[in-house]
Amino acid sequence: MKIHSAALASSNAHYKVCPEDTKPEVAFIGRSNVGKSSLINALLQRKQLARVSKMPGKTQLIHHFLVNNQLYFVDLPGYGWAQVGHATKIKWKKMLREYLLHRSNMVAVFVLIDAKIAPQAIDIECINWLGQHAIPFAIILTKADKKHKMVAQKHHMALTRILQQEWATIPPLFMVSAHNRLGIENLLGYIQAVTDPNRSL
Ligand code: GTP
Ligand code: MG
Repeated sequence: MKIHSAALASSNAHYKVCPEDTKPEVAFIGRSNVGKSSLINALLQRKQLARVSKMPGKTQLIHHFLVNNQLYFVDLPGYGWAQVGHATKIKWKKMLREYLLHRSNMVAVFVLIDAKIAPQAIDIECINWLGQHAIPFAIILTKADKKHKMVAQKHHMALTRILQQEWATIPPLFMVSAHNRLGIENLLGYIQAVTDPNRSL
């Protein structure tokens, strides 16, 4: 998929005021700091279109990016950030869940997992929740930079084993680095395929 244009369309705290669901969209979720916003920038070849930070909790709203005037990339707040107060955690969880449950134009939710660390219970919980609600999803291992290659492969295998226990068919699993663009073109090809209006379901 070639990126011809990309711009922030809206930032909202509630699914009800998100853009009309007339164009397909893909969303990026995962623990705070896993690299959601960085991956969106890498895919869209923009430096700071989605706001990135070393500090967890940077993204706090539902951000819709209109791509090629045809589809949306959606950047979401992270989950599992210990420093966030209980009330905020509950608020973000509700916002995320309601959003994920109410977008009829959602063609794929990408669950991002840090390839540098072993898969966490909260990641598996998120994957299982999506499965239970029949929301289409794929998994992306992030930060698989050259220097983390060995450990990333180890965690890839560990994750595959966990998924095999739960699922008859393993969901699509990608490995990327926003820093050295590993796997970015491959992922763009997948996004093009799932957002193709002529795709047979
Ligand atoms: P929140 O919005 O806070 O939930 O975080 P996020 O998931 O959007 O993460 P973000 O893209 O802001 O990145 C968090 C940190 O991870 C930043 O310091 C990034 O530079 C770093 N990071 C993101 N992608 C990569 C990557 O591919 N490799 C490495 N080494 N670091 C990365
Ligand atoms: Mg972010």
